[in-house]
Amino acid sequence: MASKTQIIALFLCFLSSTSSATYFKKRRHYRPCKELVFYFHDILYNGDNYNNATSAIVGSPEWGNKTAVAQPNNFGDVVVFDDPITLDNNLYSPPVGRAQGMYLYDQKSMYNAWLGFSFLFNSTKLVGTLNFIGADPLLNKTRDISVIGGTGDFFMARGIATLMTDAFEGDVYFRLRVDIKLYECW
Ligand SMILES: *[C@@H]1O[C@H](CO)[C@@H](O)[C@H](O)[C@H]1NC(C)=O
Ligand SMILES: *[C@@H]1O[C@H](CO)[C@@H](O)[C@H](O)[C@H]1NC(C)=O
Ligand SMILES: *[C@@H]1O[C@H](CO)[C@@H](O)[C@H](O)[C@H]1NC(C)=O
Ligand SMILES: *[C@@H]1O[C@H](CO)[C@@H](O)[C@H](O)[C@H]1NC(C)=O
Repeated sequence: MASKTQIIALFLCFLSSTSSATYFKKRRHYRPCKELVFYFHDILYNGDNYNNATSAIVGSPEWGNKTAVAQPNNFGDVVVFDDPITLDNNLYSPPVGRAQGMYLYDQKSMYNAWLGFSFLFNSTKLVGTLNFIGADPLLNKTRDISVIGGTGDFFMARGIATLMTDAFEGDVYFRLRVDIKLYECW
């Protein structure tokens, strides 16, 4: 059985650790310094939509090919994309930038992707890039990925981007809503 002094010492330890945690919390910016919402649109090449396609399977497992996603769960496919970014959910709205990079499907037992891409802005309102990376468990309604940096108007930016699948048409078209919260702004 622990002695009274041991218990009191433990309690004091606990108190000091929680108060130092709140101390550090206060010093950090837990409120976003910038919030942005964008949509991007991905049309996967399927063998006969070359003019319309914005992405292509560039690597597939032995049992798949480059005009259809592999089964099961697209596992092993690597896709490179150059997708238009819009401010609303309309594919035909004037794009404000391009989302460029890749996604790959990295779980055989579940529909799960991994993303690495940049947003490139070159408009009268925004110039610069934002860089994203992270796991994308597609079956979740919302998925958080990291905003790991930026350039130009987003110099040194860091934060979190919440992805939501806003539309999904077969294997060829999807639209993602991206809610960006930056916690570091310069
Ligand atoms: C690719 O795979 C799909 C699905 O298995 C198949 O329907 C299609 O014919 C294949 N295409 C080529 C070019 O092999
Ligand atoms: C940005 O747009 C300007 C004006 O259209 C163009 O001259 C410049 O090359 C563009 N820069 C990039 C990085 O696309
Ligand atoms: C996905 O959703 C499940 C259940 O809703 C949750 O437990 C899990 O943390 C989520 N994963 C991510 C990476 O968001
Ligand atoms: C391009 O792809 C989109 C999404 O699948 C589709 O709605 C649209 O009709 C296609 N346009 C053409 C010209 O094929």
